[in-house]
Amino acid sequence: MTTPNDWIDLTGKVAHVTGGGHGIGEAIATALAMAGAQVMVSDIDLGKALATADKIGGHALALDVSDRAAVDEAIAKTVSTLGALDILVNNAGVYNGFGGPVRDITDDMWRTLWSVNVDGVFYCCRAGASAMIEAGNGGRIINISSTQAMSPGVGVTYDGSKAAVLQMTKALALELAPHNINVNALAPGPTWVRGGKPPPTNPTSDTLSPSGTPMTTGNPLSDTVVSHITRLPKGHWGDPMEQGKAAVFLASDMSSFVTGIYLPVDGGYLLL
Ligand SMILES: NC(=O)c1ccc[n+]([C@@H]2O[C@H](COP(=O)([O-])OP(=O)(O)OC[C@H]3O[C@@H](n4cnc5c(N)ncnc54)[C@H](O)[C@@H]3O)[C@@H](O)[C@H]2O)c1
Repeated sequence: MTTPNDWIDLTGKVAHVTGGGHGIGEAIATALAMAGAQVMVSDIDLGKALATADKIGGHALALDVSDRAAVDEAIAKTVSTLGALDILVNNAGVYNGFGGPVRDITDDMWRTLWSVNVDGVFYCCRAGASAMIEAGNGGRIINISSTQAMSPGVGVTYDGSKAAVLQMTKALALELAPHNINVNALAPGPTWVRGGKPPPTNPTSDTLSPSGTPMTTGNPLSDTVVSHITRLPKGHWGDPMEQGKAAVFLASDMSSFVTGIYLPVDGGYLLL
């Protein structure tokens, strides 16, 4: 008899996680491996990718997702090394240093952020979907968006990029459903990715950046984020593994009939 343990089991599946060297990507790669998947961890920083791969018994490669040719190669390498691509998690994204009032956003800041957060997701979806369609075994694509896609607060560059990821997810879900490829998005809320350092108990916008660099000091938009985080219904920052658990749900047979959604994993952020 099939049990829920069978539904969640990813044994025999191959996953690729971009930006898997740190933070949420590292946790997702770890959770998928714990559920039985073979995982290819990619990151712009090969050292970080190798560290995650070493920890979870996976494979690693260097990949800058904003480089189209490198993305095509990385997906092909995943298939040639591990024999398939069943699960693709488009997690790589940047946010630090790109917020602030619109008048302060330079062309370079705009292009750099969109080249990773939007072009990168597109390149990976195109290469990943092509590999899945060619293999004919269906698959799962999980795009990492953000609560900022629905509730702006970091600034026009980041919030816009994450909203783009949501609509790309829905468009692809519609197009790829006949190929049995489910495409969904995770919308993480505040998730603390600074390792052993605990989240601030008396936060200010200077201390709130999950990865340590001040976000947008003095920016009223950022104050919105600060206010939301200090009133978060669950009362504390999320742990990266809470995103990992949700990714396993979206990667597994548990979510066989789920496609085109965004799943907020946000401690109630979007209720505010
Ligand atoms: N942490 C949060 O609170 C939060 C909330 C909502 C959404 N997110 C999203 O989750 C994702 C992961 O965020 P995080 O907080 O874990 O970030 P992080 O900075 O801790 O980790 C991001 C990883 O991506 C890698 N990376 C950066 N640019 C890359 C590129 N061009 N190509 C490949 N890899 C690259 C980095 O080296 C790093 O290992 C991002 O898409 C982010 O926007 C994070």
